[in-house]
Amino acid sequence: MSVTVRVPAKVNVQLAVGAARPDGFHDLANVFLAVGLYDEVTATEADELRVTCAGPDAGQVPLDRTNLAARAAEKLAERYGRGPGVHLHIAKDIPVAGGMAGGSADGAGALLACDALWGTGASRDELLDICAELGSDVPFSLVGGAALGTGRGERLTALEVGGTFHWVFAVADGGLSTPAVYGEFDRLNEDVRIPEPAASDALLAALAKGDPHALAATLANDLQPAALSLRPSLAATLAAGRAAGALAGLVSGSGPTTAFLVPDEQTAARVADALLASGTCRAARVTRSPAAGAVLV
Ligand code: C5P
Repeated sequence: MSVTVRVPAKVNVQLAVGAARPDGFHDLANVFLAVGLYDEVTATEADELRVTCAGPDAGQVPLDRTNLAARAAEKLAERYGRGPGVHLHIAKDIPVAGGMAGGSADGAGALLACDALWGTGASRDELLDICAELGSDVPFSLVGGAALGTGRGERLTALEVGGTFHWVFAVADGGLSTPAVYGEFDRLNEDVRIPEPAASDALLAALAKGDPHALAATLANDLQPAALSLRPSLAATLAAGRAAGALAGLVSGSGPTTAFLVPDEQTAARVADALLASGTCRAARVTRSPAAGAVLV
């Protein structure tokens, strides 16, 4: 028997980062928006825990116990007093190490797939608890839509979205390590008094209204200077997308994927073509938001 779960990628339309906490994490006001790029995780009964991956960038995905999909299966098995024997196959379409929560998506997908395969009867809150143990972005991968994440990003409040937003994502060559980008944030802000992170009322209103022009004016990512410092070439990608007609461009999460908000599908196609022609990215993906969270398919 097999169970397949489809899980979306995310973009952070606002990522407000506070000072480093004693535990090394940063308090956030993290406005997540799920976008229509998906990984699929298939769980099949097996004697031992095994992870396989297919897709253009499958070679960059770790198949050992560092993969969040494997850790999700282990945690669920442990909690329900059974062995973690399962074959997890990841059909990968979300950019790897790109700041779009691809690894988190696989964790949430594996958790939901194993839960269905094993019939654990876990409640939604129990699954969300396990997600939060797996990583700061994993709970949002499970719920999708749009949400404000506080704490280290794992405490979610659902947000209203009043329309469809169109996006182009420029996929960069290679990934960026999330801890390295947060480390660079700390270094750049050594002598700065960092305010408490807070969600922007104007941004939440733009989301609720479904107004891309208002959302474009309020997009903000506090990790962007750190990502640009580690990967200066992203400035050229941002400039190319803006010059081609995007309403706004920003680094997605910890990068190096860049996200361009566009007014409609026609502009999306034009911006994607221009980004590719500029030679400043490896691929350009057109999609829309919000997208549903993890679902059985
Ligand atoms: O929670 P997750 O495993 O995704 O976090 C990966 C790394 O990103 C952490 O080890 C930490 O360095 C950094 N991080 C952070 N503050 C957050 C979330 C992540 O410093 N709120």
